[in-house]
Amino acid sequence: MKVIVVENYEEMSAKAAEILTDIVKKNPKAVLGLATGSSPIGTYQNMAKDHRENGTSYKEVVSVNLDEYVGLTADHDQSYAYFMYENLFKNIDIPLANTNLPSGSAKDLQAECDRYNALLDEYQQDVQVLGLGSNGHIGFNEPGTPFGSTTHLVDLTESTIKDNSRLFASIDEVPRQALSMGIKNIMNAKSILVVVSGKNKAAAVYGMVKGEITPNLPASVLQLHPAVTVICDKDAASLL
Ligand code: F6R
Repeated sequence: MKVIVVENYEEMSAKAAEILTDIVKKNPKAVLGLATGSSPIGTYQNMAKDHRENGTSYKEVVSVNLDEYVGLTADHDQSYAYFMYENLFKNIDIPLANTNLPSGSAKDLQAECDRYNALLDEYQQDVQVLGLGSNGHIGFNEPGTPFGSTTHLVDLTESTIKDNSRLFASIDEVPRQALSMGIKNIMNAKSILVVVSGKNKAAAVYGMVKGEITPNLPASVLQLHPAVTVICDKDAASLL
């Protein structure tokens, strides 16, 4: 695992965008595994800026996102589909038809998981972007999720519901379930890029990089992947 410690969120975002745009420049048909949440927003802003200023094109890129809330349609302003459109897709030239997320409003959620797993078999991620939960989750793979898991229906933990409630009008509006790529789908990526900042993530960063490899801290599984880069700010790295 390569750990790059930077000063702050801005430096983290610039560095992560540089890695991602390099991948796309070298391979215009790259498959990008993407994440939502606060951690990659700055990365996506830098990618959009690079697209505007340097013309890096995403016309042939395919994206696969980690997860989506159950019960929210793509036009709901808290859905991850909406997040991706607002924070990245509308600011680059990726055709929307090339962008993929699990559908949280599918009638048959198991069939939707099966569809997404088949899609991931077809489009292996050249790189998978990850944020890190304060409890060590990756995607919505909460502590205890088996390392062999594929896309599945998740009951969100109280700690994740609380972390995510800041984005909703009230905690009661936070969905209680999500569809998430499993740990096996994440580990199948050719490379993995983790962006993490802030003191509240320091214990999870320690567990991910130096802790015991255990489903109790899902990100610790990344120690077993041959090509992981972690970009973290000083605060997130403070326990390393
Ligand atoms: C997002 C995701 C989550 C977040 C994690 C960190 O698609 O799957 O695992 O990456 O909860 O969230 P932030 O970046 O908001 O601290």
